Amino acid sequence: MPHLFSPMKIRELSIPNRIWLSPMCMYSAVDGMPNDWHFAHLAQYAIRRVGFLMTEASGISPTGRSTLMDTGIWSSDQAKAWSRIVDFVHSQGSKIGIQLWHAGQKGSTTSPWQGQDYVPPSAGGWQSMAPSEVAFGKLPTPHALELEEIKAIITDYRNAATHALSAGFDVVEIHGAHGYLVHSFLSPVTNRRSDQYGGSFENRTRFVKEVAVAIREVWPASHPLFLRLSADDWIEGGWRVGDSARLANELLPLGVDLIDASSGGIKTDVTYPIGPGYQVPFAREIREVSGVPTAAVGLLTDAKIANEIVTRGEADAVMLGRELLRNPNWALNAAIELKDVIPADELTIAWPNQYLNGRPKPKPDW
Ligand SMILES: Cc1cc2nc3c(=O)[nH]c(=O)nc-3n(C[C@H](O)[C@H](O)[C@H](O)COP(=O)(O)O)c2cc1C
Repeated sequence: MPHLFSPMKIRELSIPNRIWLSPMCMYSAVDGMPNDWHFAHLAQYAIRRVGFLMTEASGISPTGRSTLMDTGIWSSDQAKAWSRIVDFVHSQGSKIGIQLWHAGQKGSTTSPWQGQDYVPPSAGGWQSMAPSEVAFGKLPTPHALELEEIKAIITDYRNAATHALSAGFDVVEIHGAHGYLVHSFLSPVTNRRSDQYGGSFENRTRFVKEVAVAIREVWPASHPLFLRLSADDWIEGGWRVGDSARLANELLPLGVDLIDASSGGIKTDVTYPIGPGYQVPFAREIREVSGVPTAAVGLLTDAKIANEIVTRGEADAVMLGRELLRNPNWALNAAIELKDVIPADELTIAWPNQYLNGRPKPKPDW
């Protein structure tokens, strides 16, 4: 069996394969509640054998969201709505995690298709917040968080993890990438604080460590905790991949089991060398240096290349975003494309019974 289709065990969780759905905001919720859109969107991937699904970034509080249309996980009503989706995903044999989010400096905007403009409190929005008063692009200067406010946000993360557990999620992931709150504490580009949360590496990483510890107080030892990092800011003097590897190593004893290695997003006007698999070297370096498992993400579209990434040990899994929007059958097709290494009878593993009539018939040479 190709490594892409081999199961992966983390703590007590067994994930059926290494094809994972990358988190993607849908901007389709009201009051943070996931609805039929989120059910249909996520269910399609469980039916089509994506082994692990990460939900879209979900607010740990109403003001932790980026838009008013983002999902949340700060209430029991939201947990209940999520549980319907979680149960269905489990019924198909896939596993599912929720990405816990505080949007920080990028909070209170409209959706991308509405221009991502600032929504002021007078229009139902809120003042954005960050470690320091550093504005992101055209957005207004955020409020610099007081120590008491930082403490309250850490408590919000813990409460969100409690709700995630009651919804039945297998994994929680801290969103520590793309210029949102956790990332803006890590990066010297946005963190100008002179107290215990700013300055040295130790101080800039204090917030994410306290968040991980708070989540682990309520998140069971049987369940994995992931962290999505912008592994590198692509800016001289910014957060670099070496920092990510060091952080991964220091977070392991605090209960963080896997680094999902994205990059960038801390400020505008940065040039990224975007191309197929351009972030894979980050997943590889973090994995090699820290010994912590990783997921690779970013412009991964080819089944053979994805299989090579996990077979060579550059990452433990691949996360696909836009390719799965274009092609929800990616995992089913990958099983066929990699046919030369899967015995014909095992191909049925990848196809749900209800869809078997649509599966291309095994050829004599398979
Ligand atoms: C519509 C859309 C929404 C996204 N929302 C999130 C999100 O909620 N959380 C996150 O960490 N990344 C988010 N991303 C980034 C993706 O998870 C992924 O890292 C990125 O698209 C690169 O992977 P790809 O080339 O396979 O799409 C989003 C991307 C897209 C296209």
